Amino acid sequence: MTHFVFWFLFVLLQTNPARAWVASNFLMTGSKAFLTYARSVQVGTQTGIEECKHQFAWDRWNCPDSATQLRGLRRATRETSFVHAISAAGVMYTLTRNCSLGDLENCGCDVSNNGKIGGRGWLWGGCSDNVDFGERISKQYVDAQETGQDSRAAVNLHNNAAGRQAVKATMKRICRCHGMSESCSVQTCWTQLSDFREIGNYLKTKYNQARKLDVDKKHVKAGNSADSRGAVVDAFSTTAETELIYLEDSPDYCRRNSSLGLLGTEGRECLQQGHGLSQGERRSCRRLCHECGLRVEERRTETVSSCNCRFHWCCKVKCEDCSQVLVKHGCARREDGPWFRRRLQQGPK
Ligand SMILES: *[C@@H]1O[C@H](CO)[C@@H](O)[C@H](O)[C@H]1NC(C)=O
Ligand SMILES: *[C@@H]1O[C@H](CO)[C@@H](O)[C@H](O)[C@H]1NC(C)=O
Repeated sequence: MTHFVFWFLFVLLQTNPARAWVASNFLMTGSKAFLTYARSVQVGTQTGIEECKHQFAWDRWNCPDSATQLRGLRRATRETSFVHAISAAGVMYTLTRNCSLGDLENCGCDVSNNGKIGGRGWLWGGCSDNVDFGERISKQYVDAQETGQDSRAAVNLHNNAAGRQAVKATMKRICRCHGMSESCSVQTCWTQLSDFREIGNYLKTKYNQARKLDVDKKHVKAGNSADSRGAVVDAFSTTAETELIYLEDSPDYCRRNSSLGLLGTEGRECLQQGHGLSQGERRSCRRLCHECGLRVEERRTETVSSCNCRFHWCCKVKCEDCSQVLVKHGCARREDGPWFRRRLQQGPK
């Protein structure tokens, strides 16, 4: 009952968005339910940011910490669209998982369809992940942070929703066979969240296909105007909820730009060769170094470790020191460094 009153108040406050976050924050301080979810929200955001860093490890923009803080999110670029989507997805994912694992008092598996026929030869059964719960709670927490009334806020909210859609779109159906000696004449099935990696891969594709909204520049610059938000809402009424959108072109991620909190690609590591590299990894030196006007520099480090250890009677172990040379590559300025004149393995085009 207390939970109900609590959420009722919360929802009520949501209808006055300008004050809602501050007021609800104040109201809920010390509430057990709020604190329980707050921990999951924090863990979920972190899960999202770690996945962002993984997905962009070999790109010029590599999801730097500056991009995940408020200052970095003031712009609405293709990259910030991904940050919003993956964080929203992370929060929904964690809350949904928490729910299925029984971490949360007032929530459990989704059994609403159990016993019903799902398709030919199978019935709903078992513990389906409760994504509706995860979606509802994560929306309340994550979207409440978007207090602006401008076009950027509208775009950010859209991308948060796209992130939550990704969690649903990647869900899998898992089935178990029943019947005489595994004849599988009847199956029961439930839906389950994918690994978060799959959600990251899915959203990376959406990032590559992200659409720039055509909005009058004056509107975007005007900042906090409900007018500009209206213009954007019109513009993306035609955009599917699953697609990422942005308003502003990305800055040049090759160069350091301290006012935007960007470090540039100088000094970044790239992967030059090796078996089993992904396409992004194989292209990393070209994209991070060559295409940014930098050269690829070889860095050798020597490590010494024990090897060829032998046991001597009694009781000693004697080892030799073996050295191993580790070769790494990274981007460096063309005119820098002692190896400037040396012919590089893969010289600039
Ligand atoms: C939810 O799950 C995360 C990670 O799986 C965990 O760190 C967190 O403590 C859980 N929350 C609760 C309330 O148990
Ligand atoms: C930093 O980025 C802004 C916006 O793209 C640009 O106007 C400015 O010239 C850049 N500064 C440097 C030092 O590159």
